[in-house]
Amino acid sequence: MNQHIHITIDGPSGAGKSTIAREVAKALGFLYVDTGALYRAAALGVLEQGVDPKNVHEVCEALSSLEVSMKLSPEGQRTLLNGRDVSGRIRTPEISTAASFIAQYACVRSFLLDVQRDIAASNSVVMDGRDIGTTVLPNAQVKLYLTASAKDRAFRRYHELRTKGESVSFDEVYREILQRDERDMNREVSPLRRPPDAIELDTTGNTLEESIALVLKTVKERLRLVL
Ligand code: DC
Repeated sequence: MNQHIHITIDGPSGAGKSTIAREVAKALGFLYVDTGALYRAAALGVLEQGVDPKNVHEVCEALSSLEVSMKLSPEGQRTLLNGRDVSGRIRTPEISTAASFIAQYACVRSFLLDVQRDIAASNSVVMDGRDIGTTVLPNAQVKLYLTASAKDRAFRRYHELRTKGESVSFDEVYREILQRDERDMNREVSPLRRPPDAIELDTTGNTLEESIALVLKTVKERLRLVL
């Protein structure tokens, strides 16, 4: 059996995965790994080269001059693009859309697979994403699939962006969530799917605190069974 404990949290955009995963990792003393940040950093690198995220050939070519990595600090994960800390720059609607486009391509997924597996090989982690339980860490001891209604997820994302001072409308954010769901769930390579052995938790209507408590309780119960 694996000497490190791996907890995977997959699910659609805006289900609260990252905030919840971070809190769960903190409570357990594990490392939190936000894999979406890696796709976002790659998307930023692609855009900075003037490449259209919809052009699969140009995107795959652009990867050869990109290095995406994570710096793990006590304050949390920092995301690096060619050694530059881009953690703040990757949180824009433009990068969200570009990341969701390039995440469809096999070249991008295999480019980022090793980064994710390397971290898990030497740490107990709570890792969130779309294909962590199915593809990145299929032998994880605990797998969760976190979801919520599209309206609920859009409301959360909308409030998050407004709090950060972004001028977006709810309809815009809702439309964008539906489009990302469509791309994330219907791509050919590693689509977003509930791993068959994952516990599904629906957080629709929950406060963040309620969702954190629910996930933590579920994880602890599951760990007691598998360890
Ligand atoms: O979780 P996020 O919104 O930061 O992710 C950004 C995009 O990256 C999302 O649209 C889908 C993609 N992604 C993915 O395909 N696989 C992952 N493990 C994580 C993110």
